[in-house]
Amino acid sequence: MNFLLALLLMLAVPWSGSDASPAANHDNFLHCLSTSPAANVSKIVFYTPANPSYPSVLQFSIHNLRFNTSAAPKPIVIVTPQTTSHIQAAISCSHKHRLHLRVRGGGHDYEGLSYVASRPFFILDLINLSSVKVDVAARTAWIQAGGTIGELYYQIGTQTTTLAFPAGVCPTVGVGGHFSGGGYGLSLRKFGLAADHIVDAHLVDVKGKVHNRASMGEDLFWAIRGGGGNTFGVVTAWKVNLLPVPENVTVFTVTKTIQQNATGIINRWQQVADRFPDDLFIRVILDRTETTTNSTATGRASFNSLYLGQAQSLLPLLQRDFPELGVEREDLIELTWIRSILYFAGYPTDSPLEVLRSQVPLTRKRNFKAKSDYVTEPMSERALEGIWRRILRPDIEDPELIFSPYGGRMSEIPESSIPFPHRAGTRYKIQHLVYWEREGREATDRHVDWIRELYGYLAPHVSKNPRLAYVNYRDLDVGSNNGAGFTSHEEARVWGVKYFKGNYERLVRVKTAVDPRNFFRNEQSVPPLTAWK
Ligand SMILES: Cc1cc2nc3c(=O)[nH]c(=O)nc-3n(C[C@H](O)[C@H](O)[C@H](O)COP(=O)(O)OP(=O)(O)OC[C@H]3O[C@@H](n4cnc5c(N)ncnc54)[C@H](O)[C@@H]3O)c2cc1C
Ligand SMILES: *[C@@H]1O[C@H](CO)[C@@H](O)[C@H](O)[C@H]1NC(C)=O
Ligand SMILES: *[C@@H]1O[C@H](CO)[C@@H](O)[C@H](O)[C@H]1NC(C)=O
Ligand SMILES: *[C@@H]1O[C@H](CO)[C@@H](O)[C@H](O)[C@H]1NC(C)=O
Ligand SMILES: *[C@@H]1O[C@H](CO)[C@@H](O)[C@H](O)[C@H]1NC(C)=O
Ligand SMILES: *[C@@H]1O[C@H](CO)[C@@H](O)[C@H](O)[C@H]1NC(C)=O
Ligand SMILES: *[C@@H]1O[C@H](CO)[C@@H](O)[C@H](O)[C@H]1NC(C)=O
Repeated sequence: MNFLLALLLMLAVPWSGSDASPAANHDNFLHCLSTSPAANVSKIVFYTPANPSYPSVLQFSIHNLRFNTSAAPKPIVIVTPQTTSHIQAAISCSHKHRLHLRVRGGGHDYEGLSYVASRPFFILDLINLSSVKVDVAARTAWIQAGGTIGELYYQIGTQTTTLAFPAGVCPTVGVGGHFSGGGYGLSLRKFGLAADHIVDAHLVDVKGKVHNRASMGEDLFWAIRGGGGNTFGVVTAWKVNLLPVPENVTVFTVTKTIQQNATGIINRWQQVADRFPDDLFIRVILDRTETTTNSTATGRASFNSLYLGQAQSLLPLLQRDFPELGVEREDLIELTWIRSILYFAGYPTDSPLEVLRSQVPLTRKRNFKAKSDYVTEPMSERALEGIWRRILRPDIEDPELIFSPYGGRMSEIPESSIPFPHRAGTRYKIQHLVYWEREGREATDRHVDWIRELYGYLAPHVSKNPRLAYVNYRDLDVGSNNGAGFTSHEEARVWGVKYFKGNYERLVRVKTAVDPRNFFRNEQSVPPLTAWK
């Protein structure tokens, strides 16, 4: 063991080695790509800034307009592989010409880490490796890593009404990043996370070798199911198990304003939502609306629910466990699981299922900043009132908090089963979000300051030591130095244990074994022990 460590230390290179000049890198790198053996099988498609399509290819998968500015560093080239051999070629040329690599799946990273970097870099954009194959009889699917969860849902929903997959709400989210960080949606209390159901994967490692589960070994297979993207290699495909659902499920959304006792009902929700039967998931979305009486702004809580069963059995359950919400039969909509996906994605439920395949989001893209928290004990109504005061600030364009209950299956899966550690003991998760459209520094600062202040305000009411966070809600602020990256293990540990708790140390060990030179990295990727030595 000591010998191995010593060997790794000898191999180590510093985190910030000097890069060759960008122009030289660029030419050599492109030459390397186009003369690689892989290029003989099929042409390697890439886009340099000289290509008229470069801006549109770059911007297509930018989902946070905060990073769609001229000031945001741009890739020297965007490579769009059509085959695994193209990925191998890109990795090999990246080594040779020391051009930093960022992998992009669906491009939803909250901090833009898949397409922005502070050193010369290129993007390996998996957008064209996006096919999904569902095997209904075997109850499995293979999904290429450039695919979206919407494409997966579409392929399931067009072939069966009684199988489902528990991934996220927004169809444009990419499985590349989503499964790498956990991935959850409204059936989380019944089934757990997307990453809980991955049974195999294909990955290209730092040496360009292609692996499946058997050849990568159980440590690496464990790490890629939640340990964060762009850290252990390039995943090219996932195999997942599909889960049985009833022919019909039930959805509803019931809203309460502050005047309609939203605060009291949220308080009650905090006591019961993680204890309902596993089939029932009710989340709460807090935002701002206008009162109908006099058009002044007020706080609104939307209770947004998926029940994996029929309305006739949901109604008595709600009357027994949550009568305060006052749900009535006419609030309930029965539909197939795939149509419930349309409902939560914001589409009319009779839309053609093809809308789920669109890689263009339903609502316009905006600037946003988000954070996450885990809540173990209900907070007081007084604490909730402080949230409303902040939501009602008129100079903040579109603030939103989403409370998602845990419990059910989430409490049964051990913390170390996969790297995602937030299991038993979690009542609910908060996602804090703020969207804005006004351009410019001043508007950005105002909204980012707002969410940081809110986060500070909530500190006494959420998990502590460490204050936990969800890696898929990437937040550079949870590091020790507000997003400036990290330059030591002590600094990396600060965000590492917030995202991964006790699993962080094992992730570092796996990273050290598979990528000791820290080739795959970003501002918050788990570092190898050999970094900074
Ligand atoms: C509108 C919106 C809705 C969302 N809804 C949900 C939700 O309902 N539930 C939920 O859990 N999360 C949700 N998220 C968060 C989402 O899960 C994460 O942002 C996720 O990482 C996005 O994956 P991606 O491939 O789209 O993003 P990308 O930005 O492409 O990737 C994210 C990270 O993974 C890396 N990566 C991507 N592909 C690969 C690969 N093949 N191999 C190795 N590394 C890779 C990237 O380099 C980057 O570091 C949402 C995000 C947005 C913007
Ligand atoms: C591609 O094939 C041509 C013709 O066989 C050969 O000359 C060339 O070296 C090959 N290139 C690579 C990169 O293998
Ligand atoms: C991103 O920025 C470019 C260049 O300013 C602009 O043309 C494009 O419309 C922006 N994208 C979106 C979705 O606003
Ligand atoms: C994806 O592949 C198709 C077919 O080869 C091609 O027409 C398209 O330009 C590719 N897209 C990107 C972004 O490279
Ligand atoms: C599903 O719901 C539809 C519409 O409400 C209904 O016609 C159908 O009988 C239901 N199917 C089952 C199996 O309950
Ligand atoms: C608000 O809801 C709570 C929880 O149900 C309840 O105890 C309280 O009496 C309600 N207050 C009003 C004014 O209706
Ligand atoms: C507007 O109506 C709400 C009740 O709906 C009330 O609480 C509020 O005080 C009213 N504001 C004004 C300015 O009249």
